[in-house]
Amino acid sequence: MKAVVIREFGRPEGMAVIDLPTPLPAAGQVLVATEAVGVGGVDTLIRSGALTAYGFQEGHIPGSEVAGIVTAVGDGVDASWIGRRVWGSTGTGGGYVEQAVAPVEEIVPLPADLSPTDAVTLGSAGVVARFGLAHAHFAPGETVLVRGAAGSIGIMVVQLAARGGAAAVAVTTSSAERGERLRKIGATHVLDRFGGGADDAPAGYDVIIDVVAGEHLPSFFARLNPNGRMVVVGAVAGQPPADFGTEMMAAFQKSLSFATFSAATVTSADRNAVRAEQFAAAGRGEIEAVVHELLPLEQAVLAHQKMDAGEVFGRIVLAP
Ligand SMILES: NC(=O)c1ccc[n+]([C@@H]2O[C@H](COP(=O)([O-])OP(=O)(O)OC[C@H]3O[C@@H](n4cnc5c(N)ncnc54)[C@H](OP(=O)(O)O)[C@@H]3O)[C@@H](O)[C@H]2O)c1
Repeated sequence: MKAVVIREFGRPEGMAVIDLPTPLPAAGQVLVATEAVGVGGVDTLIRSGALTAYGFQEGHIPGSEVAGIVTAVGDGVDASWIGRRVWGSTGTGGGYVEQAVAPVEEIVPLPADLSPTDAVTLGSAGVVARFGLAHAHFAPGETVLVRGAAGSIGIMVVQLAARGGAAAVAVTTSSAERGERLRKIGATHVLDRFGGGADDAPAGYDVIIDVVAGEHLPSFFARLNPNGRMVVVGAVAGQPPADFGTEMMAAFQKSLSFATFSAATVTSADRNAVRAEQFAAAGRGEIEAVVHELLPLEQAVLAHQKMDAGEVFGRIVLAP
């Protein structure tokens, strides 16, 4: 089978397409003939070499989100999965392949009206968005700010907050054109990356879902209303300043909350229940999967170049 491997950390061109033997599913695993593979932000971080402290080494196959047909099962797995079209998580890699193995507890059947491409666009992002909003105790009638809204997670937060009855859904993004696209899926106010550019935006927010973090995080935390909650679900701009804790304490009398959220703290059963619900909603057209582009698996390098250039709105999907 064809697989994409990181031969050398650094630039996208350090990845190569190679031939590997088709893997056999071990006990508790299924083999998926992939029809769509999601390209995630974390894949580019691993490829760049930024995550070697977490054990990633050259030779790693990136990707964790696939959809396709189950063709074989390992010991202990119900054989009735064979022939079914599923979404699956391969864990911390192993996704950019024609035949992927996934633990059976990390697969979800696809409804007939949802394409594999849409499934890998929604599958992880929707879960982070849904549980991230819950972690922030979001309630109807509240004002929400989505920082880094143009990525696959932010796009889902915008849609879920709007559908959940938010009084306002403000977003940060880097262009007016992206802002218009975000308005079409539920954004009410479009801010620039620094939080400016919209005179009519709410003066404060009850909930901020932040995919960005980085040095400007404190200036957004300062926009929380009394009793407001900020939940960081990603850190595409890196760490916040070292004195952020001091700024939080300075706002003591506003009773603010700051939290992080990782989907790793949710059980696979709960994640899968939300996925099944969101896949069904997407099939009915109630949630939009925003696919930036569909590229052949062999063009994984081009996909990463586009990611690195900040060109991607939504998700790039590879088609094996
Ligand atoms: N919490 C979890 O369980 C979980 C699960 C999976 C992934 N993640 C994390 O989520 C992040 C990726 O999410 P994603 O794919 O939705 O995000 P993304 O597409 O990588 O980034 C979101 C948006 O942030 C904006 N942005 C990028 N760099 C920025 C900067 N330096 N300053 C301000 N804005 C910037 C860009 O939009 P504009 O150009 O329009 O501003 C970009 O589209 C990663 O940090 C990943 O580790 C978390």
